[in-house]
Amino acid sequence: MATALPFEEYVKVDGWKFVPPEEYLKEHAKTLTPEFWLSEARKIDWYEDPTVALEGDHPFYRWFSNGKLNMSYLTLDRHMENRKHKVALFWLGEDGSERVLTYGQYHRLVNRLAYAFSTKWGIKKGDRVAIYMPMIPELPAVMLALARIGAIFSVVFSGFSANALAERIKDSGARYLITADGSYRRGKRISLQENVRRATQMAPVEGILVFERLKRVWIKTEGDILADEFLKEVPHSVYVEPVAVESHHPLFILYTSGTTGKPKGIIHDTGGYAVLLNSTMDWVFDAKEEDVYWCAADIGWITGHSYIVFGPFMKGLTSVMYEGVPNWPDPGIWWSIVERYGVSIFYTSPTAIRLLMRYGDEYVLKYDLSSLRILHSVGEPINPEAWWWYYKKVGRERCPVGSTWWMTETGGVMISHTPGWKLVPLKPGTNGYPIPGVSVSVLRPDGSEASEGERGYLVINSPWPGMPLSIWGDDERYLKTYWERFPQRFYTGDYAIRDGDSYVWVLGRADEVMNVAGHRLGTYEIESAIVEHEAVSEAAVVGIPDEVKGEVPVAFVVLKVGYEPSEELAKEIKNTVREILSPIAVPKDVVFVSKLPKTRSGKIMRRLLRAVFLGAPLGDVTTLEDEASVEEVKRAYEHLKGELG
Ligand code: PRX
Repeated sequence: MATALPFEEYVKVDGWKFVPPEEYLKEHAKTLTPEFWLSEARKIDWYEDPTVALEGDHPFYRWFSNGKLNMSYLTLDRHMENRKHKVALFWLGEDGSERVLTYGQYHRLVNRLAYAFSTKWGIKKGDRVAIYMPMIPELPAVMLALARIGAIFSVVFSGFSANALAERIKDSGARYLITADGSYRRGKRISLQENVRRATQMAPVEGILVFERLKRVWIKTEGDILADEFLKEVPHSVYVEPVAVESHHPLFILYTSGTTGKPKGIIHDTGGYAVLLNSTMDWVFDAKEEDVYWCAADIGWITGHSYIVFGPFMKGLTSVMYEGVPNWPDPGIWWSIVERYGVSIFYTSPTAIRLLMRYGDEYVLKYDLSSLRILHSVGEPINPEAWWWYYKKVGRERCPVGSTWWMTETGGVMISHTPGWKLVPLKPGTNGYPIPGVSVSVLRPDGSEASEGERGYLVINSPWPGMPLSIWGDDERYLKTYWERFPQRFYTGDYAIRDGDSYVWVLGRADEVMNVAGHRLGTYEIESAIVEHEAVSEAAVVGIPDEVKGEVPVAFVVLKVGYEPSEELAKEIKNTVREILSPIAVPKDVVFVSKLPKTRSGKIMRRLLRAVFLGAPLGDVTTLEDEASVEEVKRAYEHLKGELG
């Protein structure tokens, strides 16, 4: 672990001004007041300017509470004077089809949708609407149209199963569902209709709107309407007055995994969130009028909400969106897109970098990437090897490369290098410093500050704009999950250390949450899916390190009496997870055991399962109820390894 090195020895990029860490920290210390954020809030347009920075009873804070604004206005109407004909989005389909939409065109589409939503469906402020759409240009338009009329949307990742969608529709109380017929993936046409049908059988809605990407595959049924039909009679010139909402009016609910229970519906406000995004677009991405910006995430996750839709649209940037995966039809596709559109700011995940790195340098060196100016990653720790590849082969040693730490709950980037504020020298693998206005600590279990280089729990020390309002329908759980572990501080669930320069290194989750290819999954959720299989009595899932994906799930399964372990059964169990949750949650291996190692109080010792799988020392086993269970797990695992050859 790197400690303090002389300033000269860290990575510095020609053409960029770097400041010594002490200077950053000195300036940063001046920003740690709610009033600092009020001055940031003045940089966006409000219908009613806020004069109050922060109020509310802990931890249910309200930022800029007497301000009123509208996200659709901020992202579209505001640009109509100067950016009406500027390209908002270059969209590229996997089949090579291209669509180009200007801010003016988005403004029209959003107004027409908003008009149809309110007049045909009667959607009004505060109503919830679920969105289940692939990466097509209409997805941002739907989100902004709903925001325009004050509705609260919840986007469900289109790779999620029917069950996961139904659960989210039910929990949020969504009245309507907006979807698409499907999309292309690795050359195949993937239809969403079956998932939508099954989900809405379990969780009925008042109506379903369908955008056509594939065309002529959606079979019309009762209760759904195709977008062309829905908008047919809506004039192109229609204007819907944006609803000026209170700063603390919920903009959206986004579900994310926790350690136990169902996924949590994290609620984000409008005003605090908008301010955080506006400021981080400047500080972290150094966004400029002429930039071409590409965040290669999916809008179904928080990264896409904040840094594909709201942040870049607020800034009036030209963005790129690509439908497909990074290594199809070949692993040069992304770099060809950077060249084609002259991308200058690029944002992706360490998983994608590691994946592309494995194909060698040929595909990346083939393209002219001289337009690139800033590179960042997000979602998981970046290993130094991947960082160097990104820096050298993609950025050609001309771009600052950062690893931005944040999470669904934080709304926007919290820890990063800030090329647009003050840029400190780069250290491969670090996250950098908390952004202005945000203070973090690394704590020991007893709440005292960890010392330099000592691993501890990452916490955020005080409220920040963009923080959650709560968990949808469960204030108690919000309080318990985030604010009780260390009183008055936000518990992130991550392990981190601070080095000799106070740089933060986030190491990974400290709880039973996994990070599979940058996707956050609760072990509990996967276990619950596995026990749905009729043969399974009990299951424990652990995350195992993986070279590309960072981590992958492995399941230890106890069968009911009368069932025998078999390869067939392992396959069926994997399928059950695919069906109930998502393909990304499918365990890499299923290990059949006759019992699971548990503590005397009955808690599964996942730590031991992980150790057996990795062949690592078992550590302290004094709380183990039955030592034979570990032997049993070892035997079963050896057996599996034998079978797999
Ligand atoms: O463990 C941290 C990891 O991703 C978790 C948050 O996942 P999610 O809510 O899905 O949001 C991901 C995108 C913002 C965190 O608790 N994480 C995210 N970014 C980093 C990271 N770990 C290390 N370095 C990062 N840059």
